[in-house]
Amino acid sequence: MTLLTPPERIDIVEVAPRDGFQSIHDPLPTEDKRRCIQALIDAGITRMEIGSFVSPRAIPQMADTGELVAAFADRPAMRFSALVPNLKGAELALAQGIRELVFVVSVSESHNQSNVRRSVEASLADLARIVDLLGHKGNACLRLDLGTSFDCPFEGRIDWRQVDAVLDQAMAICGHLDLEVALCDTTGRATPYRVAEHFTRLIERHQAPRLSWAFHGHDTYGMGVANALFANHHGATAIDAACSGLGGCPFAPGATGNTATEDLVYALDGGSCHSGIDLPRLLLAADAIAALPGGKTASHLRQVPRKTLIDNLQGLRTY
Ligand code: COA
Ligand code: ZN
Repeated sequence: MTLLTPPERIDIVEVAPRDGFQSIHDPLPTEDKRRCIQALIDAGITRMEIGSFVSPRAIPQMADTGELVAAFADRPAMRFSALVPNLKGAELALAQGIRELVFVVSVSESHNQSNVRRSVEASLADLARIVDLLGHKGNACLRLDLGTSFDCPFEGRIDWRQVDAVLDQAMAICGHLDLEVALCDTTGRATPYRVAEHFTRLIERHQAPRLSWAFHGHDTYGMGVANALFANHHGATAIDAACSGLGGCPFAPGATGNTATEDLVYALDGGSCHSGIDLPRLLLAADAIAALPGGKTASHLRQVPRKTLIDNLQGLRTY
């Protein structure tokens, strides 16, 4: 038997400030968000989805994203991104100084309608306009979040060929740009072997020098860490996670938060992946996030008595 050697590269993308904070019903004070974001940076997070530029009527929780971007403007070591659902969002994000746009479109028609109130075709038309806009901005880059890449809350299981059909069109639009494609398990119902199948099939068909891959998973069925590891082993170099497991999607009924960042970092022990994250400090950030009123968290590590956990972490080889 050969020893399974993990890929050496993993970028953990912290999404609690977007996917997590948007799940808390009453918008949080900006200062509370700022404090939690600082705690995440102190723990060694270097990639973060700091918020989204969306309709404040659709998601009032994200209305202060511009203020947060401004508050963390002078952080050369940080890669901040922001989710955008349309051209207007892209224009606002770029005007506020965001250099990494996360454009979201769902593979399933019904989820795209529910999430961004338009057809997949209309979303892709906006993607083309955003790509055109980015053509004039040399220093900005694009990530494509393919929502419901495994499962849709309304249509059920999604075959990799359905993802391929949308990705084919997206690649025809974005092919000349540096692009990160994220397969998103919006509902958290994917399983590791299905994650492996989707990445393997899609990378076979779309491998390109300027294309990299990411996985965004929710932990509804407890598969989050396993799915993330399978995604990483099958080509995803960036993995989204939310500190403390905060979250739940307002447009995916029943879905819980993203996989907890601390659980994922712990799972990397023993491999050769270096996340650069300091787990004891990340737990302090998780505590701060869990203390926010109105949030639902789901973290395994936070349930372990802290002294036992810290003692156990002494021998950990992930940072
Ligand atoms: N940022 C800020 N405001 C925006 C916006 C954006 N990206 N896009 C549209 N708006 C504003 C419009 O200016 C308009 O404002 P007004 O009523 O004051 O004139 C209002 O929102 C409605 O615009 P419209 O183009 O008709 O959009 P819509 O009502 O059909 O909603 C979206 C479409 C995409 C803007 C909305 O559904 C949305 O923001 N969804 C985000 C979903 C999300 O973030 N989901 C979680 C992540 S997966
Ligand atoms: Zn999500």
